[in-house]
Amino acid sequence: MKSIQSNIKKAKKYLDNKHCIGVPTETVYGLAGNAYSDISVKKIFNLKRRPVNNPLIVHYFNLNKLKEDCHINSNFIKLYKKFCPGPITFILKLKKNSKISKIVTNKKNSLAVRFPKHSLFRNLLKNLDYPLAAPSANISNRLSAVKASDVIEEFGSRIKYVLDGGRCQIGVESTIINLLNKPTLLRFGGLDISEINKVLKKKILIKTNSKNKIAPGQSPLHYSPGIPLRMNAKKPKKKEAFVLIKKRGVNYNNYYYLSKKNDLKQSAKNLYSLLRKIKKDGYKMVAVEKIQNKGIGRTINDRLNKASKY
Ligand code: TXA
Ligand code: MG
Repeated sequence: MKSIQSNIKKAKKYLDNKHCIGVPTETVYGLAGNAYSDISVKKIFNLKRRPVNNPLIVHYFNLNKLKEDCHINSNFIKLYKKFCPGPITFILKLKKNSKISKIVTNKKNSLAVRFPKHSLFRNLLKNLDYPLAAPSANISNRLSAVKASDVIEEFGSRIKYVLDGGRCQIGVESTIINLLNKPTLLRFGGLDISEINKVLKKKILIKTNSKNKIAPGQSPLHYSPGIPLRMNAKKPKKKEAFVLIKKRGVNYNNYYYLSKKNDLKQSAKNLYSLLRKIKKDGYKMVAVEKIQNKGIGRTINDRLNKASKY
């Protein structure tokens, strides 16, 4: 308990001094900085090598703090009540007098907001008088980080501190919903859209591959392990690592398992670390067997599909 509080204090000190740090969330680790500070936010873009036109998600402790910066609407309230804190990001309209750095949104008048569930992150947010801008803690287009050591692998000594919250429970990024007009899904994620449909009592629009991209995270070339990836493979080619969703009787060196028994949630949790491991083990190519396209399986397939464009 004592060490938790001292780690939170340390994290706060770095953030107050306008540094960026790694933070744990229930989805993936974030690279966090003060969302009200131009200096902090610029550092995030530089560290990630992220194009300035790709806006950041801002993380809040609760609704009261959010209301200072954004206009909310009835769909938001319904979803907030049911799923927050949790793995869902909302696109809302920014208030004219919001204190959010213009660099976060690339001067746009909408903002992506999220209420993360990880207890350490919540504890940290509660202790700050500003919200945290935090994109996933990886170099642009690479695999997201799901452990503190992954964050260090990405940024090394270029960041001052990582608040270690253990392994991320969900393992893939949040689901993004645009609430500016008709509720629209912009990115598959940790929360299943069928859950969202139930709450809104209708099937929301899906625009994850829209040509007219609002979320550059929709673009191909994302989530790449840095080696070519092939989906829906029946068997591996020579020298290819093979990713399977359930244990097989045979166990070759190049076989990697996402779960014991075809478990989609377990597979999502293991996805990025398994791909990182395959790269580290020296493979130059990876094949993945067919994954059921339902529930969080849709998110897994979305990420694999983007990774396969490498
Ligand atoms: O689970 C998550 O969402 C993680 C954790 C750290 O919270 N964060 C994350 O951030 O995945 P990032 O920056 O890697 O992805 C955010 C996505 C990007 O694709 C960005 O283009 C989109 O959100 N986005 C941000 N602001 C937006 C806006 N105003 N309108 C539309 N899309 C936006
Ligand atoms: Mg990302």
